[in-house]
Amino acid sequence: MNENVHILTHPLLQHKVTILRNETTSTKDFRELVGEIAMLMTYEATRDLPLEDVSVKTPIATDTFKTLSGKKIAIVPILRAGLGMVDGVLAMIPSARVGHIGLYRDPKTLEPVKYYCKMPADIAEREILIVDPMLATGGSSCAAIDFMKEYGCKHIKMMNIIAAPEGIARVQKEHPDVELYIADVDKKLNEHGYIVPGLGDAGDRIFGTK
Ligand code: PRP
Ligand code: URA
Repeated sequence: MNENVHILTHPLLQHKVTILRNETTSTKDFRELVGEIAMLMTYEATRDLPLEDVSVKTPIATDTFKTLSGKKIAIVPILRAGLGMVDGVLAMIPSARVGHIGLYRDPKTLEPVKYYCKMPADIAEREILIVDPMLATGGSSCAAIDFMKEYGCKHIKMMNIIAAPEGIARVQKEHPDVELYIADVDKKLNEHGYIVPGLGDAGDRIFGTK
């Protein structure tokens, strides 16, 4: 793995991801945990945001302090499951815009099929944070990254809660410039393209559709 792959080891993250994996975790708890995990991951994925000096008058004195230097950020969830992470990211970056990409995996070919897209008008000028709980074969993530690059986006990060080694390798090969933030790396994919041990189908577990 190159230096653009960041495996996040914070104990709170590991604890919450373990609860997500449990098949007895309810839809309500699962959805809440995905939001909390996204919030914690955002903290890690924004460590390199640039700061600038600003003068502030406190009730006691005037001095120079740090403030974010106006980076424009867009969160791009891959529908459906990525939607579960949006509120957590927005809790940390309330002024971010949100662009949506609808992709589903064809269950036979495992290839991503695009069915929806709506981006902010100035998307090419923004720092992009793609969010999707699962990075399995990497097909959906690579399609989403291709798509953002076609829009002219230059700085792209992606946050996945659980990743398979196959998916990480594919994204690194096709998009070595993209920074990956991952809470846990699992063993492998099964014959249906599911991550083992994983957590099952993230979209179904967030939205209670199975
Ligand atoms: C899941 C997941 C990713 C994709 C990962 O979505 O949320 O987008 O699979 O698999 P890949 O790395 O092999 O492409 P899914 O296609 O199940 O759609 P959904 O979110 O609408 O359920
Ligand atoms: N998509 C999911 O939701 N889960 C997996 O394990 C793989 C792809």
